[in-house]
Formats: sequence, structure tokens, C-alpha cells
Amino acid sequence: MEKVARRSHLRQFAFLLIIIIEFSLLLSVSSQEIPSRNHDTADNSPPAVQLDTRHHTVTVDNGLFQVTFEKPSGYLIGIKYKGLDNVLEWRNKRTGRGYWDVVWGDDGLFDKMETQHFNVITQTDDNVELSFSKTWNSHDRSVPLNIDKRFVIRRGVPGIHMYAILERQEDFPSTYMSQMRLVFKLLREFNFMALSDSRQTIMPSENERKHSPNLGFKEAVVLSNNTNDPQLRGQVDDKYQFSYENKDNKLHGWIADSDKLNPAVGFWLITPSNEFRNGGPHKQELTSHVGPTALVMFASTHYVGREMDTHYEQGKPWKKVLGPVFIYLNSALLTKIQMSARHYGKMLKDRYMKQDHGHTMHAHSAFVGLAPPGAAGSWQTDTKGYQFWTQTDKHGRFEIKHVQPGDYNLYAWVPGFIGDYKLNLNITIQPGKEIDLGALIYDPPRNGPTLWEIGIPDRTAAEFFIPDPYPTRMNRICKDPVDRFDSTMHFLVGLIFQRT
Ligand SMILES: *[C@@H]1O[C@H](CO)[C@@H](O)[C@H](O)[C@H]1NC(C)=O
Ligand SMILES: *[C@@H]1O[C@H](CO)[C@@H](O)[C@H](O)[C@H]1NC(C)=O
Repeated sequence: MEKVARRSHLRQFAFLLIIIIEFSLLLSVSSQEIPSRNHDTADNSPPAVQLDTRHHTVTVDNGLFQVTFEKPSGYLIGIKYKGLDNVLEWRNKRTGRGYWDVVWGDDGLFDKMETQHFNVITQTDDNVELSFSKTWNSHDRSVPLNIDKRFVIRRGVPGIHMYAILERQEDFPSTYMSQMRLVFKLLREFNFMALSDSRQTIMPSENERKHSPNLGFKEAVVLSNNTNDPQLRGQVDDKYQFSYENKDNKLHGWIADSDKLNPAVGFWLITPSNEFRNGGPHKQELTSHVGPTALVMFASTHYVGREMDTHYEQGKPWKKVLGPVFIYLNSALLTKIQMSARHYGKMLKDRYMKQDHGHTMHAHSAFVGLAPPGAAGSWQTDTKGYQFWTQTDKHGRFEIKHVQPGDYNLYAWVPGFIGDYKLNLNITIQPGKEIDLGALIYDPPRNGPTLWEIGIPDRTAAEFFIPDPYPTRMNRICKDPVDRFDSTMHFLVGLIFQRT
């Protein structure tokens, strides 16, 4: 009897799981494998990529832009583009324009991943790939990490591909590495920040921010009434308001509009995949903020804290490729640019409210991912491995391609249902192999009948009405009501019930 009663409340989901695993080397950004652009005739083809190596610098020029690195530290010190000598902030020290960094150790020291060796990996007319590397030794006071920073400049492409290969050998001492990033400090003239079509704004300068009073914590200030742009006066500036979930954090950057520079210039950070980021597809992460600063965050404890697994133990060798990242430059007379649409906080309620109890149904739009082996949900605190996520179609089918060989578990969750799924199988991905998992069933946890519930377990707060903040605590970033979580769903606890 008890069993029958329980069954009637079961909501089961079938994932029709087909994982097609293809071997794809993450380093495929490396030069030989990149098809070069069609060069039709000799006259139309863009100029060959030129490499100029000096004593302390190395410069690569493809006719569209010119990038200069310090040698052998690997700092990006100059990007010359469209008549501008440097789109990076040349008034900053050479160590503060374009760099990788890691926060490490018990005290959270910053290490700017300065390297000691310079090598040309590839040099052809179509591609130049550079390597700035170092091998850690026990006399070093720096983070115990072997570092290889790679930069690829291609013919006819106005931008730089970059990635870093990080490695810890077995005998490296245990340490924390709580944050890994790539940082760009742009020319002051970059005054407009764009994170998506609906989230973009003019920005205050670093100086205006400095002279504005702090709110409750140091990252938030109210811009003073002395701020130059009247639209910004009295607005709140706080970099944590510019975060996106990893799955949506693909393109952001800055524009110096035509009042500031002629022609207007855009500087964009593009990360087409996210398997190298920590915490899975729903972890929030910083993008761009005052400076003008543009970041690629690979790992951090932001929004999670100490539960993130950031301790790297002696005796456990580790290697990870961060990237690829593409820095793209463009210029136009118009300052408005179209970016790929991102949909935020879209209401899922209609779709998921109509639940059919006691039947097996397809896991529509479920998030499914391969992440390092662990307990159900452990992907949310994983920092060390790769994670390959996708979403099922309306029949619950999915396919995960281009997985880095290694050991994984398969995790999932279904929008509208509580609980974290983990397939009880250790999956080893091998080059060139496909794995077909057939149909899998998820039985969400349930301890008894639901009396009442508020909201949808979908890892967003999109359905909740959040009133406008005080008029004196606003900022201009959100252009679209969806981004303001302006929902139509209002609950009065004890009076209005959401029925399922
Ligand atoms: C700044 O100006 C606004 C609008 O004029 C006013 O409401 C606000 O009180 C002023 N803030 C300060 C700190 O003076
Ligand atoms: C998967 O591997 C872990 C670690 O080796 C082991 O403890 C676990 O029993 C394995 N699970 C299955 C289903 O084989």
C-alpha cells in the first residue's frame, strides 16, 4: 500500500542518452590545425604574418594589427590597431596591461605568471604561435606551477587566440589556487561596456569611482555628483552586477565610441566553449568592469566560497589547459554593435508546471554534463578538471562531442525538478570512441506529497518578483525588463498558492 502511494507521486524522467564522444585535442587552437582563410588570388590575400624578435620584446604583425609581448615574461604590452598606438593602457606599467594571474597559497598572493623562456612554436605566412614558459623549481617563491602561455596570430584575422597550459608535477608542494584569470586593462578612452544586447552601459572612469563614496562593501560605490557624465551621477557601480553564468559568459567587451576615438574601436573577449571553467554551467563569474577592465575568469571561489575545491595536493600530478580565448578587435563609425542574443530569466513555468504524475516523461531541456568523478552535484565545486555540458532536446536526447580523453561521471539536472542526477557508471573517454548509454531514468527525490511550494527549482530566481531598489541605489546596465527579473508571478505567503 505504502509502495503504491509512493509510486503515484513518482516523477521519472528518461534521458535518452547518446554520448558521442569524439577525440578532440584542446590544443587544437595550435597553428597547424587551423585552416587558413581562403586566399583567392595573391592580390586579394591579406599580408603574411610577420614576426619581429628583439632583445626584450617580440612583435607580431598581420597587417590588420600589431601585438607586442615582453620577452621572456610573456606580458602583453601593446596592441596597435587602426592608427592607435596602443589599445591597452600604455600609462600603466608593462606588468599591468595584459596578463594572466593566479591567486595562490594560504594568504591569497597574486602571481602574474611571469615566464622565463620564449619559443616560436610555429612561424609560417599563415600563422605565428608563440610560447612563453617556465618550469617551477623548489627555490622559486612563485606559485608551484609549470606555465606555458601560448599566443596565436593568424593571417587576415584581427585578433589573438590564446591559451595556457598549466601543470603541477607530483613533487610540487601542496597549495591553494583559488583564482585564475586573464586580465586586460584598456585605454581610458574605452567608455562603453557591453555584456549582451540587453546589458550594456556607458561606464565611469577609474578616477570617478575612486572619488565616490563606498556603500556597504568596498566593491560598491555611489557615483558622486561630480562625475562627468550626468547620466552616471548617483548611479551605483559594482562589478558583481556584471556577472554571468559560465554557460552564457561567451562574449563581452568594451567600445571606445567615436566621441573618444576616431574611428570607434571595440575590444572583445570571446570564449566559445567553457569546459575549462570551474563550477559547471551555472556558476556565476565576473566579466568586465571599471578600469576599463576586461577579464576571462577560468577559476575562482566567487559566489561559492570555501566549498570550491581549490586545494592542490602534493603527490597528485595535475595538468589543465585554460582557453582557448579569442581577443577580437573591430572598428566602425557607428557605436552600436549587435551581439548574439542572450536570453535571461526566461519563464519556464508554463512548460514545467504541467507535470504528469506517475509516468515516465522525457527530460526536456535537462542539463547533462561530463565532469570529474565525484558525488552527485560535485561538479558545482570542481575546479581542477574539465566539464562538458549540453542540454537535452524535447525528447530528452543529447549528444556530447569533443570531449577531452579522461575519466568522468555523467551528471544532470532537470529544470522544474529538485535533485541532482548522477549516473552510477565510471566513464572513460578514449580517443575516437563513441559511447551509447541507451535510456536512463532519473527518479527525483521525494519524501511525501507536496503540501505547497513557491518557485520553480530551475537554478534561477527568474520567476520571483523583485521590487525596484531605492532610486538612489540604481545602475544603468539592464536595458531589458527580463534582466530586471520583472516577473508576473507574485506570491503572498499563506494567501496565494502555486498549485501543481
Ligand atoms: C546628487 O544629485 C541628485 C539629483 O540631483 C540628488 O537627488 C542627490 O541627493 C545628490 N547626491 C548627493 C550626494 O549630493
Ligand atoms: C567508480 O570509481 C570509483 C573510484 O575508483 C569507485 O569508488 C566506484 O566504486 C566506481 N563506481 C562504479 C559504478 O564502478
